[in-house]
Amino acid sequence: MNYNVEEIRKHFPVLKEEVNGHPLVYLDNGATTLKPFSVIEAINCYNSKETANVHRGIHRLSELSTVKYEATRDLVKELINANKREEIIFTKGTTESINLVARTLGETFKSGDEIVITHMEHHSNIVPWQMLCEKNNLKLKAIPLNEHGELDLSNLDSIITDKTVLVSFNWISNSLGTINPIETLIEKAHKHDALVLVDAAQASAHINIDVNKLDIDLMAFSAHKMFGPTGVGALYGKEKILNSMPPFHGGGDMIDKVTIEKTTYNDLPYKFEAGTPNISGVIGFGKAIEFINTLNLEEVFQYEHELLEYAQEKLTKLPGLREIGTAKNKTNIFSFVIDGIHPQDIATFIDKYGIAIRTGHHCTQPVMDHFKVSATCRASFSIYNTKEEIDKLYLSLEKVIDIFS
Ligand code: ALA
Repeated sequence: MNYNVEEIRKHFPVLKEEVNGHPLVYLDNGATTLKPFSVIEAINCYNSKETANVHRGIHRLSELSTVKYEATRDLVKELINANKREEIIFTKGTTESINLVARTLGETFKSGDEIVITHMEHHSNIVPWQMLCEKNNLKLKAIPLNEHGELDLSNLDSIITDKTVLVSFNWISNSLGTINPIETLIEKAHKHDALVLVDAAQASAHINIDVNKLDIDLMAFSAHKMFGPTGVGALYGKEKILNSMPPFHGGGDMIDKVTIEKTTYNDLPYKFEAGTPNISGVIGFGKAIEFINTLNLEEVFQYEHELLEYAQEKLTKLPGLREIGTAKNKTNIFSFVIDGIHPQDIATFIDKYGIAIRTGHHCTQPVMDHFKVSATCRASFSIYNTKEEIDKLYLSLEKVIDIFS
């Protein structure tokens, strides 16, 4: 593998920063990834030289912004191999994309219909469905986990049935790193004429996505987990499904004709994009995808997996350290606890050495309940991390154990 991590690191200015007098070791990529120069510059350029609204003016800067904004839609379409640019809706991110589906498609479900999720979902793929089920008398079911943090598919036939109208699951778990059996779940859902919504937040910067090949109906993801800015993301949906869904927010741009009595709606994708969007964010999102296009995602996956295996082998030698989530099929996420030391104390202590990890329940309280812990520490790797950084994490954890035990 011809993977040049030093070349990749040069694109990310934050990696030159020191934190608490130490070079930053950024291992919190599951929360948000760092941004390359190209993304930062594109956002600066929009704000400092090219500010204008989109789809609303014929002046030069408005046209320029519109062209750049719409170019991102084409880049997203190509990245995930959608059939049409109209199938890409810009949103605030994964959470809003899922809520959009719950509030639109969800409203077409009938009393008694069933929605299936899993026990390893982020709260953003649990709460919107609970709210919908409560309001419209639907039933929410969840696929359980085994002791490794993998989906337990042994009773799948009794969970996904002819009553199921939607199966919504994360491709990769944000708190465990488990890669879910996406083909199996899609096949099973479609066998029962249920639609599939994939939460690809933790997948989009790590694996090649082909919505056509996988026959994904709807998919939600965020720019900021793929080297782009926060506050912007996308919902992919098959054209036929998006057309069948009522609009989400009402306002400018999503209309065709408005009278006081009645409104007719715009075509896709604008039907779902009311109001002035996050223009600089979408332009930055485009640059992030151009950056991803310079990488080989198969090599990225392999490299990040090597980092995971290195971390697993090295860190589990520390006394009292236990990995949470030991699925066979895992990606860039290493969650752990250390006997007798609160995860919060661990993260606070190692921050003194410039090491950034996430601690807490990671918005997955049912996962914490399953493993009978209140919180974990999570190191999540990305394209620019190195084994030397994992060594630094190891040394700092050694000190934590020395001091707290
Ligand atoms: N969902 C993000 C995480 O897992 C914020 O950290």
